[in-house]
Amino acid sequence: MCGIIGFTGYLDASEVLISGLSALEYRGYDSAGIACFEDGQIAVRKSVGKVAMLADKVSGTLHSFCGIGHTRWATHGGVSEVNAHPHSCGRVTLIHNGIIENYHELAGELAATGRIPVSQTDSEIAAMLIDSLYEGNPRDAIAKAASRLEGAYAFCILFSDIPETIYCIRKGSPLVACHTEDGSLVASDMVALLRYSKDYFVLPEDQIAVLSRHGIEVTELDGTVVTPVMLHVTWDMSAAQKNGFKHYMLKEIHEQPESLRRTITPRTMRCVYRHDDGSCAEYYLPDFTADKIPDSVFQDVNRVVIAACGTAMHAGLMGRILFERLLRIPVTVSIASEFRYENPILDETTLVITVSQSGETADTLAALRLSRERGAKTLSIVNVKGSSIARESDYVLYTHAGPEIAVASTKAYTAQLAAFYLIAFRFALARGAIKAEVCASMTEQLLSTIHSVDDTLLLKNQLKDISRHLVTASNLFFIGRSLDYALSCEGSIKLKEITYIHSEAYAAGELKHGTLSLITEGIPVIALATQSDVLSKMISNVKEVRARGAMVILITKKEAVVEESLYDYRVDLPDTPDLYAPFTAAVVLQLLAYYTSSYRGLDVDQPRNLAKSVTVE
Ligand code: F6R
Repeated sequence: MCGIIGFTGYLDASEVLISGLSALEYRGYDSAGIACFEDGQIAVRKSVGKVAMLADKVSGTLHSFCGIGHTRWATHGGVSEVNAHPHSCGRVTLIHNGIIENYHELAGELAATGRIPVSQTDSEIAAMLIDSLYEGNPRDAIAKAASRLEGAYAFCILFSDIPETIYCIRKGSPLVACHTEDGSLVASDMVALLRYSKDYFVLPEDQIAVLSRHGIEVTELDGTVVTPVMLHVTWDMSAAQKNGFKHYMLKEIHEQPESLRRTITPRTMRCVYRHDDGSCAEYYLPDFTADKIPDSVFQDVNRVVIAACGTAMHAGLMGRILFERLLRIPVTVSIASEFRYENPILDETTLVITVSQSGETADTLAALRLSRERGAKTLSIVNVKGSSIARESDYVLYTHAGPEIAVASTKAYTAQLAAFYLIAFRFALARGAIKAEVCASMTEQLLSTIHSVDDTLLLKNQLKDISRHLVTASNLFFIGRSLDYALSCEGSIKLKEITYIHSEAYAAGELKHGTLSLITEGIPVIALATQSDVLSKMISNVKEVRARGAMVILITKKEAVVEESLYDYRVDLPDTPDLYAPFTAAVVLQLLAYYTSSYRGLDVDQPRNLAKSVTVE
């Protein structure tokens, strides 16, 4: 949510900023702007629309070695050039990611000093506040401002009388930084820095980073110098590029076998069993030794609460079914934005699992913090290394999906599912709820699912053809039971967010309690029927919608016997045991959403009004 970049050094600053903003554009893309030191003055350029529009405007007009850049996802104030960042007041020019909650009150106080904003943004008020507190010492002004600001922020600030220097502070919103022989860089996420370095640090909250071309100094608010903890990314630039695919989303869908392999295999421990006749058999069990997650985490709890947003929450719905099936302990799934307002019942016997691709989602972070405050154990499933949620959790299980650039989450979702399967298996084993041989056989099936996901990608031409029949739909429904219902929720959000077609996910048995009135001639219904224990019930539900004229797309397994008259299109998933069908069916739903959006001529990777990584509440 809003992309931030700052650079000071020996390269052309506007080029570094524009290329960084292009890499960060998935975080927000309604307007963009940069501010650079040029001949001792601060020059600002802004543009409504995508970064490419700003690039045209900037091209060849700025000669600078230090500047800051921002790509916006509007919160306060509409999409306009005046609301685009950077914002300036007096000697201060800044970019901001986050929301200043008390900006209204501050604006009133600042008006008394003659500072009247020209934009409708909370960010300009922050620039005015820092300017009002600035008496020649930037650190003092920033520290004093921080004590007045409520809400979340990551700021990169230029002071017009301190050339070639960038000041940064953050609270709640991410900032990472690195120094290389080309200079110093800061950004809201590592994808913008990767061209320059694989080593970086996360700026801790309430510390100030001062970037000069010679290095980065980090201090506490009182000026005490601190040494940042360096991190290293294991992926390279190509992981954050399209690599010949038309869209990031399509590339990321194709990366799922690899992302699953990277997430699952390091967490499987090879064991050898010696038979009485001396022969040996090898088997695999889930193992979190390298992740430093001891079995006691699973043994000492009697309840699990899962909190997350959007797609990550849908992975949690799947987790709940697995846990309850295997462990027979109560599990609830909370929408993280509701969690803290529900006054949740938590104590030291509760394990709270937060799930987040970015590791920065404000609501999920708030749920995590509340859980810790109330004494619960916390385990997070996170994709981005060193992110706030990862750092603040007692235990972390990283998904190794690599950078996910498309706004619609795909490979991160299936990696989150894999994490839940591994946790459920280990959890059940650690509590004696399943025997080692059962656990080993489930782990082996999970490993084989990686190949099935690969095989599912071969269905893409069939799915492309089916998508043509969805292009003109204005409403559609996903139905399923048990694991298929949890997956329907994910299929529906994926389709909605990138095709703009309204859809709803329904537990198939629930249709007749109201929704069936919406099923009319030709309405598409995507029926997931991958679970043999509920297949006959599912078929009855398909008959109900068919009788009302629905166009049915049936996603099932080869062995399922279903009368041909009940569906218009049938997709047979590669062979997998029922428990693992969500992995292959997820790929089918992702591809259906992808091709439908593509046929509708939409911006698949950057759908309207959305942004990756929601760092505001
Ligand atoms: C949908 C999607 C979102 C995210 C949600 C949580 O495709 O990507 O629903 O899943 O915003 O984001 P993270 O996982 O970063 O916490």
